[in-house]
Amino acid sequence: MNKANNQSKKIVLTGITPSGTPHIGNYIGAIKPALEMAKNPEFDAYFFIADYHSLIKLWDSKLRQQYIYEIAATWLALGLDPEHVMFYRQSDIPEIMELNWILTSVTAKGLLNRAHAYKAAVDANIAEGEKDEEAGITMGLFNYPMLMAADIIMFNADLVPVGKDQIQHIEIARDIANRLNHIYKCNLLKAPEAMVDKETQTIPGLDGRKMSKSYNNTIQLFAPSKQLRKQVMKIVTNSQLPEEPKDTTECTVFALYKHFANESEVEALAERYQQGIGWGEAKQTLFEKMDELLMPMREKYDYLLANKHIIDEYLAKGAHKARVEAKQLLDKLKQQIGM
Ligand code: TRP
Repeated sequence: MNKANNQSKKIVLTGITPSGTPHIGNYIGAIKPALEMAKNPEFDAYFFIADYHSLIKLWDSKLRQQYIYEIAATWLALGLDPEHVMFYRQSDIPEIMELNWILTSVTAKGLLNRAHAYKAAVDANIAEGEKDEEAGITMGLFNYPMLMAADIIMFNADLVPVGKDQIQHIEIARDIANRLNHIYKCNLLKAPEAMVDKETQTIPGLDGRKMSKSYNNTIQLFAPSKQLRKQVMKIVTNSQLPEEPKDTTECTVFALYKHFANESEVEALAERYQQGIGWGEAKQTLFEKMDELLMPMREKYDYLLANKHIIDEYLAKGAHKARVEAKQLLDKLKQQIGM
């Protein structure tokens, strides 16, 4: 798989920050669609673990190590084939850090001043009456989109599948690539495009808001059956009585069910909603479907985590392949900028 010279295939690239245990929202919203794209012969896929990004929000070394393995095991358990997908850990590719600095040097500070995550942190300080509106904001947080741009540009990515909240970051990466090309009068860097899957955009969490670690409303992807059931039973529903007909459109249980069940199963549940179904029963139906589907992958996940050397080997091989390509671009770029 020699991508560097293969212009006909589009490169799709995405990363996941190891800052928590993977949940159902990560699976449906990001990992599953990415793996489907990887199977499409029109694309070459690059999926990586953004461990340098995790440094800005997680300062616990043991937890980081654990999350890195959990994310890697998740990708592999869900079917990523490391023979066909470029699968690597960001920190194994030091070229990304070199590129990061080259890009930093041509990027207007104002571009990053406007980044949503940074602005939100400033706004939070102001709202809390902090004297220093930059309090607690690290340079890492400020430069987060910068590093993301390096991740993307390093491998000539065309498409970056991301959630809505990350679109701006891809636009920033575009701006940066174009700016460097302009300054050094070349066409070396590819400007990427964000790809947002409307259907899977928002996976509701336990409380009906977007499933997210920061809302503390997640359902763990590979929790053991018992725990999975417990979490599903915590989904917030309305106070309608069992016999009352229920609306499927605003219902978290139903929304999640749609992502696991087939068409006729979804129809059957919709009918049960019409007739009146108790929330306990609806949740049990959802749990059973999820458990059935996740079980084989969970077994693989548990196996990999119990045999981390297998993960280490995959990541080492992936890094080796990825670095060959990273070096090629970096060499060309350094030549172009007179280094
Ligand atoms: N910011 C992404 C997230 O938190 C992770 C990420 C890092 C990423 N670098 C990337 C995603 C490059 C896509 C492309 O989910």
